[in-house]
This record gives sequence, C-alpha cells and structure tokens, in this order.
Amino acid sequence: MSSDKPRILSGMRATNPRGLHLGNYEGALRNWVHLQDDFKVYCMVADYHALTTMGDLPPNLGFITREVAKDYVSAGLDPQRTSIFVQSRVPEHAELHLVLSMVTGLGKLERVPTYKEKKDELSSGHPVSYGLLGYPVLQAADILLYKPYGVPVGKDQAPHLELSREIGRSFNAAFDCQVFPEFKDIIDGDELRSKVPGLDVDDQGQLRKMSKSYDNCIYLSDTADQVAAKIQSAFTTPTKIKKTDPGIPEGCAVCQYLKLYSPDWKTQWSEDQQGLRGCVQNKRELTECLNEFLGPFREKRAQLDDASIEEILKRGTEEAREFASQTMREVRKAIKID
Ligand code: TRP
Repeated sequence: MSSDKPRILSGMRATNPRGLHLGNYEGALRNWVHLQDDFKVYCMVADYHALTTMGDLPPNLGFITREVAKDYVSAGLDPQRTSIFVQSRVPEHAELHLVLSMVTGLGKLERVPTYKEKKDELSSGHPVSYGLLGYPVLQAADILLYKPYGVPVGKDQAPHLELSREIGRSFNAAFDCQVFPEFKDIIDGDELRSKVPGLDVDDQGQLRKMSKSYDNCIYLSDTADQVAAKIQSAFTTPTKIKKTDPGIPEGCAVCQYLKLYSPDWKTQWSEDQQGLRGCVQNKRELTECLNEFLGPFREKRAQLDDASIEEILKRGTEEAREFASQTMREVRKAIKID
C-alpha cells in the first residue's frame, strides 16, 4: 500500500496485559486516529521496548501485543489505511538500532530524564541494563526507518524525540550522507488530555496521573459494568459530604472526566461548585457519558479475535517492512557495507 501522503510514525509499549487506558488514549492514540485523514500512519506496538523495564519475569509479550493492537483498532485506527505492526517483527528496527548505537554518545543517553527516573526506581541490587540505557537509540531507529514528517506522542516523550533527531543528524554527519531527514514533534498541548488523572489520589490527597503502576485506570476494554463500578468508587471532593456542600471540580476525578466526556460539563461543574448537585448525580451522569463514548470501541473489539488481529498485524508488518528495508539499504550504502 504505497501512498503519497506524508508519513507519521508512532507507537506504544506493550507493558500491560489489560491493554490501553484512557490516559493512553487521550495522550496519544486519539491524535493518531485523527491524523489518519491527512497522513499515511505507521503505528507500532513496541514489544522490544517493553523488555527494558520488565525485570526478570518475562510476561506473555505476544498476548500483550495483541491486546494493545486490538485497542488501537477499537479506538479507530483503520487497518485499511494505517499500517499497524509489531516492532520485533520488523527486524530492521533491531538492525538500525545497532548501527545508530555507534553514533550515539554515552553522555547523551545518561542525561535522558526517563533513564534517570527508571534507574532510580530499580531496586538496589538490580543492575541497570545496557538495553535500558539504549532505550532512546531503539526509539530513534523506530522513527528514522520511516523518514516521517512527524511523530505524534504524549508530552513526556519530547526528550526522546529530541535525542532521536540528534542521532539522525549524527549518522548523516558521520557518514557524510542525507539518509535521515529531520522530523517534527506532534504533541497535543492540552493539559488535561496529556495528564488524565486516575481514579485515586496520592499521599497528599492530590489527583495523580492514570497509570498501571497505581492501579487507578479505566481501560478501553473495560465492560460497561466495570466502568460503572470504577466510577462509583472514584475520588471526589473530600469536603463535599452532602449535596449542598460546595465541590472543587479541579481536584475531583469525576469532574475531570466529566470535562472530557460530557457535553454538559460546564453546567455540571457550576452546579457542583454551588452545591446544587451531589457526587452521586455526577457519577451517574458520567457513567452514562463514558459508556456511551466507549460503546463503539467495545463493538469493534467484540469483532476482533486473535486470528483477525494477527491478520491485521501481518499485513501491517509487511507494509512497514517494505519501507524499512528500503531505508536499511540506504543505510548500508552510506556505511559502505552494501
Ligand atoms: N517510548 C514510547 C513511550 O513510552 C514508545 C515508543 C517506542 C515510541 N518507540 C517509539 C513512540 C517511536 C514514538 C515513536 O510511549
């Protein structure tokens, strides 16, 4: 499927057997779905990247990969237009990663914020792997193989993109070529979408990001009943005991979700602030809106069994390889090993 449209490349790591949550959707996937109209989108499940933080117990990566791919399609990525593929099934990613590692300075990798965080999170006695340090080099390979116009990602990925650009420039300079053109960051600046709160709060009573590690997520694949139960127990203004107590929507998870999913959120917020409505009503209305929003996702997901998602991934992987192998030919030529 060749296309004259400019290319876009992006992906998410396959780290959670539950698949993707609302934070993943709002922060990135939502944007990819819209970009399909104007771009040829290459959308990857980054399974190798998942190995960098999984520790000693290898999860069923194949299973997680299929769950993430099912979420991509149920959320609106269209396999007819978009190449949905698996990183490890396009060996050019691993190959280019190796080549790029030769032009990437250690200091640059050690200064990457996510590396520093992950390194500190690892329990003592757990050695920092070569792969974790090289995470951004693999990401640079993911991107540069497709010579994209731009890379749509969540805000937290900006340092990785900057480093990927630098690695592309270093390669061009080192081998006196122009194999890798510059690409743009495509980052949705919306504050709430880039940091969707989870259902709970931290030790200080503040909302915190929706994240698998906090177990505070609403998943795209949750059933209507699961969503209802989660919203039922979601955090609301702690000083709003009775309906007539004033609410503080900025610090209330339910009100934040209303802002994202309810067309009437302005009225709902103002009534909440004035003590004209209670949390029970907010939760009831949110459950309705969110389940309506997720309804089409669920319908699509119900059509996707393992065989049909494998079929989609097979085709997407072939399309991705077609482009990636051409770039690798240019790379080999530039380094004179063709
Ligand atoms: N690092 C990205 C994340 O954690 C995932 C990713 C891997 C990616 N390779 C990529 C994103 C290439 C964009 C382009 O979300």
